[in-house]
Amino acid sequence: MNDNRLLIISYRLPFSFKTENRVTSVKQSAGGLVTAVKSLDLPASAPKPVWVGCADFSPRVWEKYKHLVNDDFEYVPVFLDKTTNKGFYNGFSNSVLWPLFHYFPSYVDYHDEDLNAYQAANQAVCDKVVELLQPDDLIWVHDYHFLPLPMLIRQNKPSATIGFFLHIPFPSYEILRLLPEKCRNYLLNGLLGANLVGFHTTDYRVHFLRSAQLSLGLAHRLGTIENGQTKVQTGAFPIGINYNLFHDAAADQAVVQERLDLKRSYPDKLIFSVDRLDYTKGVMQRLDALEALLRQHSEWLGKLVFILVVVPSRDQIQTYGERKQMIEQAVGRINGLFGTLTWLPIVYRYSDVTFSQLVALYTACDIALITPVRDGMNLVAKEFVASRQDQQGVLILSELTGAANELGEALLVNPLDEYEVADQLLYALAMSPDEQRQRMITMQERVASYDVKQWATDFIDALLTTQQDEQASRVI
Ligand code: G6P
Repeated sequence: MNDNRLLIISYRLPFSFKTENRVTSVKQSAGGLVTAVKSLDLPASAPKPVWVGCADFSPRVWEKYKHLVNDDFEYVPVFLDKTTNKGFYNGFSNSVLWPLFHYFPSYVDYHDEDLNAYQAANQAVCDKVVELLQPDDLIWVHDYHFLPLPMLIRQNKPSATIGFFLHIPFPSYEILRLLPEKCRNYLLNGLLGANLVGFHTTDYRVHFLRSAQLSLGLAHRLGTIENGQTKVQTGAFPIGINYNLFHDAAADQAVVQERLDLKRSYPDKLIFSVDRLDYTKGVMQRLDALEALLRQHSEWLGKLVFILVVVPSRDQIQTYGERKQMIEQAVGRINGLFGTLTWLPIVYRYSDVTFSQLVALYTACDIALITPVRDGMNLVAKEFVASRQDQQGVLILSELTGAANELGEALLVNPLDEYEVADQLLYALAMSPDEQRQRMITMQERVASYDVKQWATDFIDALLTTQQDEQASRVI
């Protein structure tokens, strides 16, 4: 990386303000993206990276408290009015693009006014970026909230260097074409304003290239599309995690204590899962699989516990609220069916967990049951692997996650097949420590070698190369 300034654009800024007892403080997020960018080896001479995102606070709060957010970034919040933000975030982003790109077309809830809000929000962010942009800046746009943004910036700043990374799957053209032609071409053309478009897997990349071909008639060669003046390169960059953070945390005093407490409370076999509340995560199917196991193998009654942690998310959207009720009913039903006065098969928690609780759960469990029905990557699987210093524990992983491409030593399952998942649970419950170790060591080597730092470095290096190529072609 050289001295270029980095401009990051994502829907969420990596902090939030919290007011308790009339005292306002700032809570920094420890999400994957912020860790990735912080881990980049930026030269000391490089200017502070700038992070542009949508504010979930008012301009007044920002003016009053921005001094509290003083760290490695310069933050630039974009303030959207309530109606625009609702149509943009709850509407088009999370009720059209999210379900469609995760192969849930029947959950799509399309409204013209939401598309208008999506366009308005992208325009507002574009205006801010254009205002900030300096020559040689590298722009890195993140996720499905901003598919049109690369082209909007390009129209204002033809020679800008723009990278885009999609954190969710890019679906096959058969799914994308469910969007009206005008709408899908608008989204595809938006991405084609970037110099580099990154995906988690080669499949997603191929789906994009094929969609550009079939929808817009644009050919590609070796993963590159010539779009007028812009050469749009594409690549697969499977996002990683901060491996050492999770690996080392397993021995932290707080984690050791929490782990001991968990083991004491649940001395038998422990199965664990944690997800944001989302229909893509396959929680209902997972509960079906547990039920199938308990029905068919009564020898396990009273001898295992499934700790199911669901983290609240997008609760303003109807499908999410409904999902919560469905999960709670299923948990109650299964506990009622199999539980006794002294034992319940499922311990359900609907809340966030702290980092040390999370690592304690990863390291106390015998099986991590990670079975989304669709997931762009799934970092929970990688975090579980990284945290197992003891090289024990079995990962049961859905083959419909991006992570399954890298974690072939997990027990891979189709999450919709409850009997297959139940069989793999049974296999995992009986797996020898030796087999657990062999599978775990190989996965750990892979997760450690392509960590989040490597991911961010590879993307930025590839983006810099596109910049150098563009500059060289202008000189010629
Ligand atoms: C996914 C998306 C992210 C998003 C996260 C949490 O991982 O790819 O862009 O930030 O979910 O969702 P939320 O709607 O709470 O930001």
